[in-house]
Amino acid sequence: MEKIILTGDRPTGRLHVGHYVGSLRRRVELQDSGEYSKIFIMIADAQALTDNAENPEKVRQNIIEVALDYLSAGLDPKKSTILIQSQIPELTELSFYYMNLVTVSRLQRNPTVKSEIQMRNFEASIPVGFFTYPISQAADITAFKATTVPVGEDQMPMLEQTREIVHKFNSVYGETLVEPNILLPDNKACMRLPGTDGMAKMSKSLGNCIYLSDPEDEVKKKVMSMYTDPEHLQVSDPGHLEGNTVFTYLDAFSKDDMFAEYCPDYNNLDEMKEHYQRGGLGDVKVKKFLNSVLQETLAPIRSRRAEWEKDIPGVYELLKKGSEEAEKVAAETLRDVKEAMKINYFEDKALITEQSERYSS
Ligand code: TRP
Repeated sequence: MEKIILTGDRPTGRLHVGHYVGSLRRRVELQDSGEYSKIFIMIADAQALTDNAENPEKVRQNIIEVALDYLSAGLDPKKSTILIQSQIPELTELSFYYMNLVTVSRLQRNPTVKSEIQMRNFEASIPVGFFTYPISQAADITAFKATTVPVGEDQMPMLEQTREIVHKFNSVYGETLVEPNILLPDNKACMRLPGTDGMAKMSKSLGNCIYLSDPEDEVKKKVMSMYTDPEHLQVSDPGHLEGNTVFTYLDAFSKDDMFAEYCPDYNNLDEMKEHYQRGGLGDVKVKKFLNSVLQETLAPIRSRRAEWEKDIPGVYELLKKGSEEAEKVAAETLRDVKEAMKINYFEDKALITEQSERYSS
């Protein structure tokens, strides 16, 4: 079977290094692997509006930011179709039919929705659109017949819900939709990169993110003030790795050849960790190394961004083309869905014959 990727992000802010190791880097590898016949990358603005209904300007402003982050991370519009969710009306139509296949209690049990409701203080008044966004996400995935959805582990419940909808649809209406598989990051540190302050999640409001678009000095400043081991007061003290953000970042970003280049005292991260735990390795030295590692990673991203920033109309044009191309695919799926559901009355010759026979007999 053809292998097709669909994934995406809500345009609510610029993308940070957590997005990079958690998904963007992988997407570029998958794109360049040549294993996939189609790759769709969605800017999920309609989903972003489900909890930002009163803040459309935020979503509108961040479309271009996310698009620039995609392109600068190495997504290539010749190989990957970048699209804007709201420009594909077929997705809304699919969602409407899928809604009949999901119960309220099933949505209430979705762990991601549950925790997001808490985070947003929605308990008393959950917007219906927000509550049902897992259904619209199932539409996103199935519309493009995606076989593979590379996302972070927080999206696992969404994929499960999608698979249930696919099962239910196919068993009620006949084999129509493709069951997607989740593709999780393969490195544990990449699953959920903590904020620079050691908090579990990077978030704009906590100010603990390193953005892909941060300039060199900003990255350095953030790295040098990163959370490490509070008990590691003197260089000679033994240090702890558990919960030590700098080492988590090194797990996610460093490669052996970077040691030869920037910190030749060690051959690899294990040796550096060992010295840190033994005592005698100061935080500043480790942070300086992490800074070099991050700068090496971010430099090509920064320079690609600078190029694309010179042609903003070109970026919008590419999003328009991508959305148009994507709509054609979604329209095909919607046609299949309506046929399976037998709501394609005007194409249904048998229906017309059946009804005229009924009336002529
Ligand atoms: N829910 C995803 C997020 O918050 C964004 C998203 C929307 C998505 N539609 C999708 C991800 C379809 C994968 C597939 O990041």
